[in-house]
Amino acid sequence: MDRGQQARGSCKESVTCTVTGKLTKERILDGLPTRIFGQTLFFFEEIDSTNACAKTLADTGAADGTVVWAEHQTAGRGRHGRSWTDTPGDNLMFTVVVREVSDRHLPWVPYYMSEAVAGGIERALDIRLNAKWPNDLLMNDKKVCGMLLEGSDNPAGRFVVAGIGINVNQMIFPPEILHSATSLQMELGREVDRIPLFHSILENMEALLHEIRSHGGTAVLESWTNRCSTFGNRITLRTGSGTVNGTALGLSKDGGLLLRTDDGLRTFYEGDVTISGSFPRTTTA
Ligand code: BTN
Repeated sequence: MDRGQQARGSCKESVTCTVTGKLTKERILDGLPTRIFGQTLFFFEEIDSTNACAKTLADTGAADGTVVWAEHQTAGRGRHGRSWTDTPGDNLMFTVVVREVSDRHLPWVPYYMSEAVAGGIERALDIRLNAKWPNDLLMNDKKVCGMLLEGSDNPAGRFVVAGIGINVNQMIFPPEILHSATSLQMELGREVDRIPLFHSILENMEALLHEIRSHGGTAVLESWTNRCSTFGNRITLRTGSGTVNGTALGLSKDGGLLLRTDDGLRTFYEGDVTISGSFPRTTTA
């Protein structure tokens, strides 16, 4: 491994190794078409969680667009306290530090990031992805990408860390998620080069965040809403406090999921969606 590249362990360590043919920080950065996003990159062969590392770095002032990349996570974090597992070296697992998030934009960041990643993948591979609320990405109705957003308001400023896990070349999944998870390689029938994919995602992310910061996020949200296959469907939502059935109408005015239930319209801010039936889409808030 080249100088400055981190491996195995804590966020602050820097270790060198001499494995050839493996991905290196320099190969990832070569030709990265961004000005800011990913230009500061921490690369780990193995780490507990890129989100945990990015939070530590952001707490001590890491710049907007800093990326933490891992080839393998030993304690990858998923939503709702679940774990996120991987087969080493097959996927894209990285976390981006996003600063300058205004109060107005904060509730919409999960959708902005979901749209940014989806657009980047689509452009690189010429495919179409759907979204599942709140920010999963699906290919042929199976999950190819999950995101975990964590935030903090502290003396070093407000930040969000957006942890992105894309199943790129993984071919084996644990039995309990086999029916619902897939990888880009499994769907496309060919190996996918992770570096151009990463470049396309970061380029799209930088462009969208620039547009949102300068002109507002309406167009980005509209794109995301159009790709979200949850809306218009009868769904079951499992939340921390129980299970609710209803028709998913769209996003509420404050960034939640608007559900028509037997008890009337309700808004939810977390939960896992399962689709149980399909209805014509309706106009929403
Ligand atoms: C989910 O769908 O449950 C969210 C999964 C998020 C996984 C990514 S992998 C990179 C980053 N680091 C983590 O520990 N988690 C996120």
